[in-house]
Amino acid sequence: MYVIARRGWEIPEREATPAHLFLNRRAFLGATAGAAALAVAPQLAFAQRVADLPDPTKDLYPVKRNEKYVLDRAITDEAINGAYNNFYEFGSSKTIAKAAQALKLRPWMVKIDGMVEKPIEISIDELIRKMPLEERLYRHRCVEAWAMAIPWSGFAFAELVKFARPLSSAKYVRMETFLDPTVASGQRQTWYPWPYVEGLTMEEATNELAFLATGAYGHPMAKQHGAPLRLAVPWKYGFKSIKSITRFSFTDKQPKSFWEALQASEYGFWANVNPQVPHPRWSQASEEVLGTRERRPTLIYNGYGEFVADLYKGLEGERLWA
Ligand code: MTE
Repeated sequence: MYVIARRGWEIPEREATPAHLFLNRRAFLGATAGAAALAVAPQLAFAQRVADLPDPTKDLYPVKRNEKYVLDRAITDEAINGAYNNFYEFGSSKTIAKAAQALKLRPWMVKIDGMVEKPIEISIDELIRKMPLEERLYRHRCVEAWAMAIPWSGFAFAELVKFARPLSSAKYVRMETFLDPTVASGQRQTWYPWPYVEGLTMEEATNELAFLATGAYGHPMAKQHGAPLRLAVPWKYGFKSIKSITRFSFTDKQPKSFWEALQASEYGFWANVNPQVPHPRWSQASEEVLGTRERRPTLIYNGYGEFVADLYKGLEGERLWA
């Protein structure tokens, strides 16, 4: 039972951490002191040095913009965007950018498994260099009713699917974020169902809008945005756009996401943006544009209906919006 998390996204961490859990966390830290002693091992010291090198894909940026995807608002200022994030692995406030710098980006392996012709593990650098990179301007709508606009760099999810060669019986792709409580303080909060998990149907993953971002603002992705690989599905609430992905598993079972596991009455599998269906605790009719005082009406599918509305025909009986 995740009693604490029931209180929702926007609760300050100090309020969401009752004493007994805080004490458990201290016990956990004690237990990891032994692990810290291991850090003197030469191979770990080497891994640390590799992780501190400049991004090995830096030369690929900026990438050419695909002009097909246009915005109805200005791009959110990078400084504003990079200082207001959701990345629960590093805390439940919006100011996790500093803590997220603890994330080690190399070596970074991506596992592709489940219902595929041949499971593989590939380094992020090899994967990025195999993919056709482009820049896309996308809107992002958080379920908390704030919104922004970002120039992502990356590749179409469909390209990863082609590379993965899933079996025709695969119906979903399940994604997983890294799991390392030694760098991600949030992952020491054991009442969350780590690691962060999200999922798409195969039709959603191969829809032209589904994008795997490796960079933003013309350079490799900042850690707080989910480097080195993060999903961008702009017609869904932001929590679907999983950060710092390490694994793609093709499956015939609908994946249960992190937020659904935590609070199924508030966060569902589909999570398509819909102004007419309120979140159980607040309205979704309008949104605040980050960096401005502006409130705008929320658009169905976040304005991307022309690309995705057909995906949901005949599914009206499902809980599409939560
Ligand atoms: N991915 C992971 N692994 N952990 C998270 O906490 N938060 C989600 C999504 N992806 C989250 C995540 C939510 S709620 C939002 S709104 C976006 O990331 C925020 O992305 P941004 O910080 O780059 O704006």
